[in-house]
Amino acid sequence: MDHTTRESAQVSAPSTDTDTDTDTDTDIDSGTAAPFATADPSATDVPDTAGPPPAPLRLAVIVASNREGRFAPVVTDWFLSRAAAYGDLDVDVIDVARVDLPTALSFSPSDDVKAVLADVSPRLAAADAFVVVTPEYNHSFPAALKNLIDWHGSEWHAKPVGFVSYGGMSGGLRAVEQLRQVFAEMHATTIRETVSFHGAWSHFDVDGRHKDPSGAETAAKALLNQLTWWARALRDARSVRPYGG
Ligand SMILES: Cc1cc2nc3c(=O)[nH]c(=O)nc-3n(C[C@H](O)[C@H](O)[C@H](O)COP(=O)(O)O)c2cc1C
Repeated sequence: MDHTTRESAQVSAPSTDTDTDTDTDTDIDSGTAAPFATADPSATDVPDTAGPPPAPLRLAVIVASNREGRFAPVVTDWFLSRAAAYGDLDVDVIDVARVDLPTALSFSPSDDVKAVLADVSPRLAAADAFVVVTPEYNHSFPAALKNLIDWHGSEWHAKPVGFVSYGGMSGGLRAVEQLRQVFAEMHATTIRETVSFHGAWSHFDVDGRHKDPSGAETAAKALLNQLTWWARALRDARSVRPYGG
């Protein structure tokens, strides 16, 4: 079974339901006093929302495989095309293959390690949201990804994390479920909707194009709908009240 199809089958269309507004109107029309009703007509004015439009959300796409001969670029490029089509996202690709951090954590890293951190850490800190593109290795996720996560802390806090996974039989979903536990510890919130490719290589042609993209594109849009909702909500919240951790 194609997991992209299975996942997208679980996806609900973004809600355009206006029931809440309708209920409120009904209460007022029928004379049922809402507890917050007021005689002040200015209280019903539409708030002045004039002002500069919000900055595009900064999305860090984290490539989790550094394996020689990896398939990761195919899946990543596909997802980047979906992010570009979605629009209004400022995307930074953070590839673990280009982040050479030692597996031995240190409070006093060498100058070489400091230089690596000086590049990658501010990029993680600047992100409003993350999408992790991860394969599954032995029912989990790659060690290089865990290393990047463990070298950081507050960079993940109070931000949403979505997943695009791939692998053999499981489509990387076991890696994703483990990552949900890890990111909970990092004070991040993970997005329910995922994009998952089982037998990933069979979905793409030799030029890296998806052979039958509609299900996967629907799943990517659902992921991005949820991710951007959380990213905006948490960016607003962090600007009002810095996250305490
Ligand atoms: C060490 C290793 C372990 C793997 N374990 C699993 C696994 O448990 N489940 C699965 O579905 N695929 C597994 N695979 C298949 C990978 O998910 C698949 O080869 C994928 O393309 C790896 O991503 P990469 O090529 O970007 O590194 C494994 C591959 C490797 C190299």
